[in-house]
Amino acid sequence: MKLKSKIAAALMTLPLAAVTANAADGVKVEHLGTNNTLVRVEGNSRYLMLPVQEAYDDATVNVVVDGKLDKTIYVRLAKSKVDYSVPFDLSPYEGHDVVLNIVTSQNRSTVREAKEDACWNNFQLTDTIDVTNHEKYRPAYHHTPLYGWMNDPNGMFYKDGVWHLYYQWNPYGSKWQNMTWGHSSSKDLVNWTNHPAAIEPNGFGSVFSGSSAIDYENSAGFGKDAVVAMYTSAGASQIQSLAYSHDNGETFTIYPGNPVITLESEARDPNMFWNPETKLWTLILAHALDHEMLIFTSSDMKEWTLQSSFGKGLGAQDGVWECPDLFELPVEGTDQSKWVLFCNINPGGPFGGSGIQYFIGDFDGKTFTADTDADGNVPTKWLDYGKDNYAIVSWSDAPDNRRTVIGWMSNWQYAAEVPTKQFRSANTLPREISLFKGADGQIYAAQTPSPELNALRGKLMTNVKSASINKKGKTYVLPTENDGVCEILLNVESGRAASITMTFSNEKGEKSVLTYAAKDETLTFDRRKSGIVDFSQDFPAVTATPTFNGGETLPMQIFIDRSSMEVFANDGKGVMTNLVFPTTPYNKLTITTDGGKAKIKDLKIYSIDIEK
Ligand code: FRU
Repeated sequence: MKLKSKIAAALMTLPLAAVTANAADGVKVEHLGTNNTLVRVEGNSRYLMLPVQEAYDDATVNVVVDGKLDKTIYVRLAKSKVDYSVPFDLSPYEGHDVVLNIVTSQNRSTVREAKEDACWNNFQLTDTIDVTNHEKYRPAYHHTPLYGWMNDPNGMFYKDGVWHLYYQWNPYGSKWQNMTWGHSSSKDLVNWTNHPAAIEPNGFGSVFSGSSAIDYENSAGFGKDAVVAMYTSAGASQIQSLAYSHDNGETFTIYPGNPVITLESEARDPNMFWNPETKLWTLILAHALDHEMLIFTSSDMKEWTLQSSFGKGLGAQDGVWECPDLFELPVEGTDQSKWVLFCNINPGGPFGGSGIQYFIGDFDGKTFTADTDADGNVPTKWLDYGKDNYAIVSWSDAPDNRRTVIGWMSNWQYAAEVPTKQFRSANTLPREISLFKGADGQIYAAQTPSPELNALRGKLMTNVKSASINKKGKTYVLPTENDGVCEILLNVESGRAASITMTFSNEKGEKSVLTYAAKDETLTFDRRKSGIVDFSQDFPAVTATPTFNGGETLPMQIFIDRSSMEVFANDGKGVMTNLVFPTTPYNKLTITTDGGKAKIKDLKIYSIDIEK
């Protein structure tokens, strides 16, 4: 009796290892130690909402189902305040016991301190999630993830009238983590439908970028017309894996014979395609730190033979080489065709951080040989002279021999800091790649907005046949509906002016400034005062593109969508894709010259019909 009560007294004074906190209905929280807590799901709901604080570091969340580890995810669980919550889908576990065995970072000194984390009282069960947009900077007509972080587009294919887009996605927060293939699709490259995740992290690691191809002849043995995806499994090593789909890319089965390619150093972002000339599957793989692209061939997508490497010492060699693409296109105005090799690099882009360099050359099925300039050197060429187009790759099996591409509209320098929370990053508009010959005899790649985008044009708000422009300039009103989203077309004729400036501004004095200097054949884009710019020292910038127009009339096409401006000069020969975050939309366009007289022709300002 005495002994018993002694034990009871001792128990009461000992700090209890498991303490149940005051969590929401149906969620039981048990603290096991200074960095280990169990969150037990007791209610029956579709989702468990996980509270996130972005400034905090990742907790390791082990999802234990009926006592077995199902998966591990990494979530920035809230410490002092909840920025937002992300849904964890419980539907696959219906009828099973689910416990999250959470290991937080080590810096709580006592269980009492650990218990104070804001997250514990904010796990919530719900049957519906609120995906209505809360972000003023979410684009109206560009593809974005419903929520969470997105980087590279990848694995894109076209089949049965549908454009499938996959992307590097973090479903559990708006910073990079838990790389998963998110999935969206579109019938018109304008309206996108978000689908459930297509390929999730698995036993070989998270799922980095890759590509898909349709196996019409069943050469891999996964079935006729299977969609076969190859991606980088990123765990302790970067290895290449296959997955296949029999439901047009909605769900994928992981190939049990993975990996299909292993190398000793970092290699990623496999891009495979069928080469009708050699009748072989052909693959280009970024040997990231070695600054080269490796080319492989295969008859069955499973056994790959290394044929060659390209790039050592050529082009921009800074940073890592990533996200390659290789394809053939006709050169406009000639009877020639050439191969294009995309090499996304980060850092080392033309204006800092991420950028897309490309090489033009010949490909004999095994080896890519780059064109040289008059001095015998391989010139460095850039596809986009803005700061915010990266990881661009093309759709496989696009109709009518189109080479349709889409990029990630951000830059690794500040992608995680841009002023949005519910989601982070949009894609560029889809674009068509074509080849042209420059005055220097070199062949270059142009990007033009995909023709489907014409359907976005709403009201023609301004239509000016011709106007003379001087130093005082002329001002045109920009549409205000839908936060000023619009498309602008105009032709700029320099006349006697050395430069012509087009300023997009709001009443707060925030502005994005385009200046065309005919003599230099250059168009610049100054976003130093474009709105919110102070989230990163790398954001304020002036970018500049060659116009390839011999100083003649410069046709321009500009798309504005809440937090981006895409400028296509001279039919896509000079392109700048830049993010801008005006605190209120730009509502006027002022065109001035540095002194001399100039002309603008066919100025058309369209509102955007976002219901399309
Ligand atoms: C490019 C990249 C790829 C990689 C992916 C990971 O932005 O670094 O090389 O596959 O992002 O998310």
